[in-house]
Amino acid sequence: MKTLIVGIGALGGLIAARLRAAGLPVWLPTRDAEQADWLRASGLRVTGMGSAVNVQATAIAPLDAYAAHDGFELVVLATKAHDAIEAAPKLSVLLGPNATLLPIQNGGVPQMLADRVGDCVLGGLSNLGATMETPGVYEQRNDGHLLIGELGAGESERTEQVQRCLGRAVKVCTTNNFRGAVWSKLLVNCSVTTIGAIAGCTMREFINAANGKEIFNRTYDEALSIALACGAWPERMLVDPIPPGWCGRSVASEAHDAWIGQLLKGYGDVKPSMLQDIQRGRPTEIDFINGYVVSVARRLGVPAPLNAMIVETVHSITAGKNVPNPALLGPALQAGIGNSGFGP
Ligand SMILES: NC(=O)c1ccc[n+]([C@@H]2O[C@H](COP(=O)([O-])OP(=O)(O)OC[C@H]3O[C@@H](n4cnc5c(N)ncnc54)[C@H](OP(=O)(O)O)[C@@H]3O)[C@@H](O)[C@H]2O)c1
Repeated sequence: MKTLIVGIGALGGLIAARLRAAGLPVWLPTRDAEQADWLRASGLRVTGMGSAVNVQATAIAPLDAYAAHDGFELVVLATKAHDAIEAAPKLSVLLGPNATLLPIQNGGVPQMLADRVGDCVLGGLSNLGATMETPGVYEQRNDGHLLIGELGAGESERTEQVQRCLGRAVKVCTTNNFRGAVWSKLLVNCSVTTIGAIAGCTMREFINAANGKEIFNRTYDEALSIALACGAWPERMLVDPIPPGWCGRSVASEAHDAWIGQLLKGYGDVKPSMLQDIQRGRPTEIDFINGYVVSVARRLGVPAPLNAMIVETVHSITAGKNVPNPALLGPALQAGIGNSGFGP
């Protein structure tokens, strides 16, 4: 498939380098000519897990240099969420007939893109972990995979075609329940990642801080209720998405502690990616994570006060009114509970 990888950052750079190393036809757009010159000179290098790669960066030019007659069959959209929403209309023009736009951001991005540019969007998300040391140098951090599937559920020829193509470079799995997979990842991002970003620490550290476990449980419960209310059925990822004994809310028990223990084993010591964005002064994806939960809740006419308060707290941090700190958890929890009308 004639492929364009948009967003040659941590994930896009890794995928592009591995596709190029596998000899597949891949084109790379940059933000500007300077960035294209830099990558042409440096080449693309992958270290970390999997085979090491060192390839030349040819077929690289600023995004504006590509045009409709290029007729790409597959565009992999590997930018951050806000850039993906902004770039999508421009990218849909570059797609040939029956071509596929594959976003790999977290949260509500694939559905939001489909609402804007239509059926060309195939759902994608990444359990593959990558970092970019400098432009052109990428580290594969785990043995993860891309997960792809139709937004409207079910199997399709294009899902298999994209799996065959990208599967030459990285592990690609398919699912008939993409919506459920999106929500499984959202549940973790909304609670583990975002609360860690607010507290300025890992899950293992915030779960033992004052209010940490309670805000984690309540945020998770609220997001799970909204997933189920909108008809999604979250898939099992690291843990069963429905905590043991769940009855619309988490109930303290040995089994529930063991469930949290499993989450801690997988994510407990990972520095939250949203915290890294905050510390680097980069925009966060909060509006596409907890903010997406709030927007779905609003559409359904059900409350999501805690997720709304979490969105507000992250915005207060990025606006410079607060710094990530475990002491922010208590006020966010109290305000979220207070707005629910249900009390503690
Ligand atoms: N990295 C991971 O391990 C991982 C794992 C799971 C999910 N994800 C998700 O995957 C997405 C990408 O993450 P990432 O870590 O790879 O981000 P990243 O390192 O920031 O890479 C994004 C790249 O896209 C470029 N870009 C943005 N808009 C562009 C445009 N219009 N034209 C050309 N290039 C453009 C950015 O350039 P500038 O730097 O100039 O903005 C940046 O190089 C995010 O939604 C993230 O949540 C990442």
